[in-house]
Amino acid sequence: MGWKQGAAQAKAARGVGTLLMALAVAVIGMTMYMPAHAQIASTRHNLGASGTGINKFSGTTEICVFCHTPHGADTSAAVPLWNRTLPNPNTFTTYDSLGTSTLDGKVAPVGSVSIACLSCHDGVTSMSAVINQPGSGLVTDFNTGTWSGANQIGGVLKDGLITKIGQDLRNDHPIGIQYGGGGLSTTARTGTLRDGDFKMPANAEINGTTVWWVDTEATPNGTRQKTDMLLYTRAAVAGYVGQTDPEPFVECASCHDPHTSNTTFLRIKNDGSAVCLSCHVK
Ligand code: HEC
Ligand code: HEC
Ligand code: HEC
Ligand code: HEC
Repeated sequence: MGWKQGAAQAKAARGVGTLLMALAVAVIGMTMYMPAHAQIASTRHNLGASGTGINKFSGTTEICVFCHTPHGADTSAAVPLWNRTLPNPNTFTTYDSLGTSTLDGKVAPVGSVSIACLSCHDGVTSMSAVINQPGSGLVTDFNTGTWSGANQIGGVLKDGLITKIGQDLRNDHPIGIQYGGGGLSTTARTGTLRDGDFKMPANAEINGTTVWWVDTEATPNGTRQKTDMLLYTRAAVAGYVGQTDPEPFVECASCHDPHTSNTTFLRIKNDGSAVCLSCHVK
């Protein structure tokens, strides 16, 4: 092979290299600007016919409809545009009834965002039992759609699965529990945690509402992001002297973001127990 030919090949190879690099940059760019649905679409929370998870319902290719509706949502708990009938809080046995002597915080009745998660994870109601079906009920195949996949029967999570949290919450991390044993005031936006083994949460007033969260960055940035541990403000629990003001509580979505493609829907990776150590000082 003459040197000219070799140089031409080398140049061509460099050209291909540049092209590949440009493609790589383009792909990375595309990944960065992927719309949110591209995340949930590839998870077990895509229950529609196009779902890549284990369980699928043939009646629709929609994704959000199993949880949200743009109109006529359930308002019995503070969950955005919720499209499912919520279970009765009294059907659950809460963590505090286990009777550990170390628990400081007050456990409220199952509510807030947790009861929304449990409207599927209690393993009682079919996951296709929504308030508003797609297309104002005009899509008749939603009614006749069938479930497939090994982890459900008729859209109800099966017994024995770890994903079936069930109605007995004594074997689950406490939810509906005051953060840090209580002691924070949402009105004053400050306070002292009764249990000193917790990180002080951050707060901000957004549109007149005080929101609380625990920053997960090594150097807290003081900004609420979906990768922080979100706390959910709940009113004073009736009959509990320790709380007079609405306070931040830990709920299912404090640790989980139902839309993320992170493993087990965690807000951050749990390497080195980073999830646990973002709240607990241990
Ligand atoms: C498996 C149930 C589920 C599905 C499916 C689901 N969501 Fe959600 N979504 C929730 C829950 C629960 C919350 C409240 C969680 C929170 O406080 O972060 C929520 C909150 C939201 C919020 C407000 C909070 C935020 O993160 O901005 C938006 C917007 C939202 N969902 C949009 C969508 C869209 C769009 C889809 C479909 C592409 C979708 N969701 C699918 C359960 C779901
Ligand atoms: C519309 C029904 C529905 C709702 C509402 C729902 N989930 Fe799920 N979730 C599922 C199904 C189905 C699976 C897959 C179960 C299986 O195959 O074992 C799942 C799986 C999970 C998993 C395990 C994922 C994995 O990779 O193993 C977690 C964690 C989870 N959900 C958390 C939540 C939380 C937290 C909420 C509320 C913010 C919520 N889910 C609301 C239906 C739901
Ligand atoms: C304090 C943090 C925290 C809270 C609150 C929490 N979870 Fe989890 N959850 C986790 C972590 C961490 C994992 C991952 C466990 C693992 O991978 O070993 C997990 C795993 C799961 C799984 C997958 C099954 C498993 O054990 O791997 C499901 C389903 C689930 N959570 C649902 C819920 C629901 C529903 C609620 C509310 C009733 C909830 N979680 C509340 C931290 C939490
Ligand atoms: C969003 C903050 C938050 C995260 C994240 C979190 N916890 Fe907790 N945890 C709490 C709160 C609040 C309590 C209640 C403490 C109390 O009132 O005594 C608690 C209680 C506990 C308890 C003690 C319950 C008792 O009976 O005394 C254990 C054990 C525990 N958490 C372990 C974990 C582990 C393990 C993880 C990680 C998988 C984790 N927590 C993640 C907030 C959190």
